[in-house]
Amino acid sequence: MKLEDYTREQLEERKKTLESKYENFRSLGLKLDLSRGKPEAKQLDLSASLLSILKEGDYYDEEGQDCRNYGGLTGLPEVRRLFGELFGVPAELVLPGGNSSLALIHDALCRAFLNGPLPGDTPWCRLPKVKFICPVPGYDWHFHTCENFGIEMLSVETRPDGPDMDRVEELAKDPSVKGMICVPMYGNPSGVTYSDEVVERLAAMETGASDFRLFWDNAYCVHHLYDEEENRDHLANIYEACQRYGHEDRVLQFASTSKITFAGGGICAMAASPANLRETLRILTYQLVCYDKVNQLRHVRFLPDRAAVEVHMKKQAAILRPKFELVQKVLKETVEPLGIGHWHAPRGGYFICFYAMSGCARRIVRLCRGAGLTLTKAGAAYPYDTDPEDRAIRIAPSYAPMEELKQVMQIFPVVVELAAVEKLLEEK
Ligand SMILES: Cc1ncc(COP(=O)(O)O)c(C=O)c1O
Repeated sequence: MKLEDYTREQLEERKKTLESKYENFRSLGLKLDLSRGKPEAKQLDLSASLLSILKEGDYYDEEGQDCRNYGGLTGLPEVRRLFGELFGVPAELVLPGGNSSLALIHDALCRAFLNGPLPGDTPWCRLPKVKFICPVPGYDWHFHTCENFGIEMLSVETRPDGPDMDRVEELAKDPSVKGMICVPMYGNPSGVTYSDEVVERLAAMETGASDFRLFWDNAYCVHHLYDEEENRDHLANIYEACQRYGHEDRVLQFASTSKITFAGGGICAMAASPANLRETLRILTYQLVCYDKVNQLRHVRFLPDRAAVEVHMKKQAAILRPKFELVQKVLKETVEPLGIGHWHAPRGGYFICFYAMSGCARRIVRLCRGAGLTLTKAGAAYPYDTDPEDRAIRIAPSYAPMEELKQVMQIFPVVVELAAVEKLLEEK
């Protein structure tokens, strides 16, 4: 029976039962954390050999460059080739970076603001207004960064196949809309992967700004939870699509091995058109001599090509998959029959986005905290930390060991139901 069909008396009765369960959880003094999408230690152990993979004398890349020394701003050819395979672009269009793709995104924004994306473009800092399209729910770091640059964020709803493209196309006509920032595969936190049609329309659309940039943060491009092709999402090649429409400068692609090897201790890369890369390198020369080539070398010794990445990611999936399945099984058994929440079942990535009854997300996060369970702040998946319907909650099941996750999944449904009962009582 759906909770909304309960009578007032039934709801009051149910509230008492739930409150007593909640008090029991509180008395346990638990300390559980599902707030950030960090890998569990077991996942990091899969890459332990990275730390000792370079033996004495093994310092040279395939062109004979000594990776211990300065030089080689464009990184190791092996790394360019590896990321080229992941992005689906030629190796020459890849710029390997340091340990963080978010730093690359930040730097790309800095260049656009200080210099303009390409020579001849007006630096964005000289414009009265810079706006970005932001599919929601989205990644809180993206939104805080945009806010920090003074970018006005325009939310666009994400559907099961990606952002509402009619809305995106409409907004993109405005010349002050300079870009869009998104996670196109196994989205953080939506779990959604953009369909071929969405990718095609993003590449093809007319934009009011000639220097419009698509910040394509493909952080989860190899993070499938299932081995079988038919249980994996597929993402079309955005660069090739942009090329077909003569918009090859439009897209800047980013990825890293943070969720492949070591989080914050991996390597990252950007892929972009020849013109974008030329301009990036021109300015980068004044920013640093080179990125950490020793770490780049370690990584390509450990993961020489896409096939090696695939094998490694299957081991990651074997750890992550049971956690994702547990969360969804419990939600299906407890919350779904009451009609007080739904979620998109992701086939990869790091997150499950749970949509509670409208007006309940903040209350749920607060109640969870009271019971010792920390979740990502309600509203964080929306620009300005404001979820207009107060319903989205990001569940990040990776970091907690399975035993802890089982405890979490006893508390969470009780809290979701308690918040829903309170809401319904308020409205009856
Ligand atoms: C969408 C997205 N991009 C980037 C990152 C972090 O990337 P990096 O560690 O390479 O800066 C994360 C980490 O959670 C993420 O979810």
